[in-house]
Amino acid sequence: MNAIEKQIKKIETEYLQEIKEAKTLDTLESIRIAYLGRKGHIADLMSTLSSLSLDQKRTIGPLLNQLKKSCHDAYDLRKEQLAAKVKTKTSLFDVTAYTPHQLRGSLHIYTQLIDTLSSIFISMGYAIADGPEVETDYYNFKALNIPDHHPARDSHDTFWLMQPDRLLRTHTSSVQIHAMEKTKAPLAIFAPGRAYRNEATDATHGFMFTQGEILYVDKNVSMAHLLATAQTFLQTFFGSGALEIRVQPDYFPFVEPGVQISGSCPFCTTGCSICKHTRWIELLGAGLVHPNVLKMSGIDPTIYSGFAAGFGIERLAMIKYGINDIRLFHSATIPFLDQF
Ligand code: FA5
Repeated sequence: MNAIEKQIKKIETEYLQEIKEAKTLDTLESIRIAYLGRKGHIADLMSTLSSLSLDQKRTIGPLLNQLKKSCHDAYDLRKEQLAAKVKTKTSLFDVTAYTPHQLRGSLHIYTQLIDTLSSIFISMGYAIADGPEVETDYYNFKALNIPDHHPARDSHDTFWLMQPDRLLRTHTSSVQIHAMEKTKAPLAIFAPGRAYRNEATDATHGFMFTQGEILYVDKNVSMAHLLATAQTFLQTFFGSGALEIRVQPDYFPFVEPGVQISGSCPFCTTGCSICKHTRWIELLGAGLVHPNVLKMSGIDPTIYSGFAAGFGIERLAMIKYGINDIRLFHSATIPFLDQF
């Protein structure tokens, strides 16, 4: 083996070793340039060809071509291997795999409840009505057939404001009067909103709570309309097609007759802790609108009649979702709020 042949063998050995050890495509590329580039080791060897004899050219020429080819082949193979590694690494990177804990915002349970209830009543043809939370004695009491010194006032522990004749409404029944004054008969409204009572708070009583008020006034409205409406509403709200209602006499000065409507417990058939083992849960105060109330709001009770009903929105939600303390609604208890 002459000097050039030794040189060819040495270059080939070193090149293949370096290629084998190359860990990145960049390193591989610099090795290629150093050996196969225009000014690389193999080009240097090629340039010596011209000084060789014809015989030597016949031997060395093919050896150099062979060297070039094997260098290119080795380069291509290694490049493929390194590129495949990069690709594998990239495909293992899953952008969806990293999910840091996030607190997502959601509508407050009050908003969700009022939206749900409003949709139920809108689907039955009711309009949504609103009224002021700061009321006068007239709208909260007198126009609802509760004159001064009426004993029913005692059951509404009222927050009186410093201004004369101003109070925080004790129930949403005051919206009945605003609606009748504004719209006249016939009308059908659902009025959700806050009510206030100067009461000690406990698991089922708040000094501020939310009520829903239903009022329908038209010709020939009867108790049958009230009961059908109450049943449809409660069945839809609790999602319980089998829900029955029970009606018992009750007294509210603004309705005559007045009733208390209970629903069959949506959680049991034989009695449970939620219905206090009675199978019934009191849900609505209701009745036919008292003629005095229609008259005071400018509606002729000899032509029109109506029914009204009121309920505590938190109390309904407590039954539906098994919430055991009304104070949670206004607390910033994230685990509680997160459930809705
Ligand atoms: C009324 O407020 C009547 N306005 C309801 C009504 C409307 C009767 C139309 C007839 C016709 P009552 O005081 O019972 O009625 O209250 C109605 C509901 O409000 C109760 O059943 C209860 O669910 C809720 N509620 C009353 N007080 C509180 C309180 N302190 N905390 C939470 N919810 C209450």
